[in-house]
Amino acid sequence: MADAYFWPSVSAISAIALVWFISQSRKNRSTNIPGPRGWPIVGYMPHLSPHKLYDTMKQLIDDYGPIFKLKLGSWNTVVIADYELIRKAFNEHDFSFRPKLFFVEFTSQGGYGLTGSNGQLWQEQRRFALRHLRDLGMGRSSIESHIQREALAVTEDLKKTMGQPIDLSFNLNIAITNIVWAIVAGKRMEYDDPTFLGFMEANNRNFQLSTRMGIIGFIPWLKTLLPESWLGLNFLKETRGQIIDYIKDLIKEHKENFDPNDLRDYIDHFLAEQARQGEDSTFSDLQLITSVANLFVAGGETTSTTLRWAVLLLAYHPEVQRRMQEEIDRVIGAERLPTLNDREQMPYTDAVIHEVQRFGDIAPMGVFHTNRNDVDFGGYIIPKDTLVMGYAGECHRSSKFWSHPDQFRPEHFLDAEGNLRKNVQGFFPFSTGKRICIGESLARLELFLFVASIFRTFDFHLCSEPTPSLSGSPDSGIVRLPSPYKVRLELRMNL
Ligand code: HEM
Repeated sequence: MADAYFWPSVSAISAIALVWFISQSRKNRSTNIPGPRGWPIVGYMPHLSPHKLYDTMKQLIDDYGPIFKLKLGSWNTVVIADYELIRKAFNEHDFSFRPKLFFVEFTSQGGYGLTGSNGQLWQEQRRFALRHLRDLGMGRSSIESHIQREALAVTEDLKKTMGQPIDLSFNLNIAITNIVWAIVAGKRMEYDDPTFLGFMEANNRNFQLSTRMGIIGFIPWLKTLLPESWLGLNFLKETRGQIIDYIKDLIKEHKENFDPNDLRDYIDHFLAEQARQGEDSTFSDLQLITSVANLFVAGGETTSTTLRWAVLLLAYHPEVQRRMQEEIDRVIGAERLPTLNDREQMPYTDAVIHEVQRFGDIAPMGVFHTNRNDVDFGGYIIPKDTLVMGYAGECHRSSKFWSHPDQFRPEHFLDAEGNLRKNVQGFFPFSTGKRICIGESLARLELFLFVASIFRTFDFHLCSEPTPSLSGSPDSGIVRLPSPYKVRLELRMNL
């Protein structure tokens, strides 16, 4: 009798031991992710302020390797700081989710839209957005005339300021937003239209507040302790409310004039799909409002911040500015507007733009991802609901990829014959993998046509005292802004 129970018991005990052993080793692997101890409550956040970011991260990578953990407020964060590892991770479905950070929840209105949605809704809506934005001309020559028109309008506007010290932020932002506007809402707004200016101001303020107020995102329980007014939350809600009301009016107007045989823009395409699939599908009004808001913010601020970096870096390096202008004069001249076809013959200008994106590095920490399940990655188990940061800053400032990583040198993107180097390792300003930026091709067209247009027309001279630092604005949040600066414009060509 005893024998009859002996082997089954041994098997059962062995199986339990094996399960225990595996679970322990998985647990150990997860807790064994190396990383520094942070401060109580805030964790490692104080060390990641914009002017310290590169040095802090470099030290952490030296100490712990390319995968390490950090506590950011209440969030367990895993940093991946290696080009190949980031590419691998972000190509996996497991890491394609957005975390429930306060600002993700706030701007996605609880999980809608394109930037903060997840799962099936995100997959369907991302596919829809990619297809229709492409059909509407994004990234193709049919959008060229819109971009040319805005680049011309902004140069005309800037002519009024000649000789005076100016801050370019607002003008560039309006011009770039107008391009997204054309694709999404089929409209062009005049630069002095009060409704448009109101929208732009609310949008700018909202963007600044949301990138600066990271502290609430990472330590959410602070919201219950500190007054909303002190945290600036009431202001954030108010400006966000203005943007949403504006978009609702726009959608109402589109519904009133809707013609299924003449789909003019993104909103019309969405309404057509909504009619086909019904309101219970992912094509709800809330989804449309949130997607439109996402496209304005993601498509406006990023590109115009890159252009502001371009002006600062080229005013700082007049020899690079001159060499680029020589190429612009040689290829385009004074008789016509820059076109997309010119890019092929302008490797130096193209290299300057790439180098602005590398050195300006506007999203060094990327946009946070998360995993919904425990994931076995890089020799560790990354527990579910970890904040996952693909640290692009490491690649953009690494001597592995760049001869002079801390200097602004367009030569980083040129080969020995002066041709543009393509698919350069370690360079991914638009991220990589499943959540890679939807607007990359549009942004690349805009950057080329704007840089060629404004530097053809003007010389830019820095006139801020003291000379602004190139290490980014202390006000930066998730987007690395240039330090505030002023330039003086001098007319080169009156076109
Ligand atoms: C120089 C300009 C731009 C830069 C540097 C940039 C960069 C990025 C980055 C780093 C991400 C995060 C990807 C990730 O989570 O891994 C992103 C996402 C996104 N971008 Fe851009 N972007 C730019 C322009 C644009 C434009 C022009 C648009 C649209 C008109 C746009 C729309 C989006 C959207 C909708 C997402 C969210 C994608 C998703 O979560 O699936 N971006 N972008």
